[in-house]
Amino acid sequence: MPWHLTISVCRDVDEPLSRQIQSAIKEKIRNGVLLPGVPLPSSRLLARDIGVSRSVVVEAYEQMSAEGYLEAVQGSGTRVATRPVVGVERGSGLDEPTAPAVRWDLRVGATDVTNFPLQEWLSCYQRATQSLGANDLSYPPITGIPALRTELASYLGRVRGVRVEPAHTMVTMGFAHGLGLICRTLPTVGIDRIGVENPGSGKQFHFIRSTGMRALPVPVDADGVDLDALARSGVRAVLITAAHQFPTGATMSLERRQALLRWASDVDGIIIEDDYDTEFWFDQRERPPAIQGSDPERVVYGGSLSKVLAPGLRLGWLAVPEWLFGAVERARATSDQGSDSITQLAVSEFLRAGLLDRHLRRLRPRYRSRLETVVQAVRRHLPGASIRGASAGRHVYVELPHHVDEAAVVDGALRLSVLLRGGAHFRLAESPRLTNRPALVIGYSAVRPSDINEALARVGESYARYADPRPNRNGASLTRSIGQPLRIPRSAAVP
Ligand SMILES: Cc1ncc(COP(=O)(O)O)c(C=O)c1O
Repeated sequence: MPWHLTISVCRDVDEPLSRQIQSAIKEKIRNGVLLPGVPLPSSRLLARDIGVSRSVVVEAYEQMSAEGYLEAVQGSGTRVATRPVVGVERGSGLDEPTAPAVRWDLRVGATDVTNFPLQEWLSCYQRATQSLGANDLSYPPITGIPALRTELASYLGRVRGVRVEPAHTMVTMGFAHGLGLICRTLPTVGIDRIGVENPGSGKQFHFIRSTGMRALPVPVDADGVDLDALARSGVRAVLITAAHQFPTGATMSLERRQALLRWASDVDGIIIEDDYDTEFWFDQRERPPAIQGSDPERVVYGGSLSKVLAPGLRLGWLAVPEWLFGAVERARATSDQGSDSITQLAVSEFLRAGLLDRHLRRLRPRYRSRLETVVQAVRRHLPGASIRGASAGRHVYVELPHHVDEAAVVDGALRLSVLLRGGAHFRLAESPRLTNRPALVIGYSAVRPSDINEALARVGESYARYADPRPNRNGASLTRSIGQPLRIPRSAAVP
């Protein structure tokens, strides 16, 4: 193979050329530049690249192989030894001790990519590649290619009631990217603090802060974000997951939505709506529309393909108020050069042909059936627990009785090979208005349906051990619990 290796030799010194080659390669191995298993050029190629005779390189390779730095692999040439040589420094952290082996991953963000519609995707990707125009492989427009912006605007209107023109739709590299852009835009309109739901996404909390914006946790109750607390915080922007609050699953009530829009108008503020998982609303007749549709000039709406297709595509979108779009575009122009054109073309083809709708129609019953298995397993293995937020998404919020030691249950489950998060993982700050009930957040997307019961049996084993039957040391709950009691819709009706 035509591998290239950047090294040089010097002819004006006494040291033999073969020794110089050895020293240069060993040095790169020692300081971690050449990693274990990295392929090296053939002796013929390296000799030609650095201008020495081939026998010099052959001698160097043979010597280093004898010392254990390199190894010859039959049929594929010479590579850096996969087993480190004693004395080699590694600063990569790859040798750090590993976490306990995890057999079942019940974390909420995990994705089962085996559902990815590979054949349909490949045909869209192929069509996109075959139809590339003269300019399609130069830098794309930073707001996204027009065909995709048009498809997105019509899809979001049709499915989520979003009111946006293609001209104010921006293609992003996922919601996190869009959120970062908004955070860098808000100071240009005099906003430097943003309210975030508590409990909520720790990742987003840190993202926001890394842009220089202040993130203020605002408690969430059964109807969504607490508006009194929001008003008291003095912010003029808030990030919400209205339809299916992350992670509690609470759906913002109609009254709260209206009051939130009034708040935004009163403070001349902005609502950022993260519509992260409503594609998996099981009863489509009850799926709440996006808040954006009620006031497109006050709401920045964002979503992505991460939950519906695959996070690795890194493709998302923003529907931006007309007056703010230019500022977001300017923020983007100073941070990146746009998203991958071929993926954008393929996604626009995917949407145009109705393949996303078809994919979601196929997935919803599968997730609903997983949900039913989770619910049965929770009832069987976690007696006394109540399930919240089961109308949508790919996770449930399971509240445990007050006396249960949540952290101990989570640790105990990990020792039994189940990785999951407790409610505390999502608590961004303590607040007396926040529910203090212990909870488990159970994601059922990345675990095989046939494994759900066994995984939850392990969680149940840990729960039985740590569900201390004595009265809660901290006394009774100060606040009510979150979300509505479980109600699983009978049919996974389709749009
Ligand atoms: C609350 C929330 N919103 C949105 C997303 C999607 O983020 P992205 O589109 O950047 O993958 C995630 C991903 O896990 C999430 O947890």
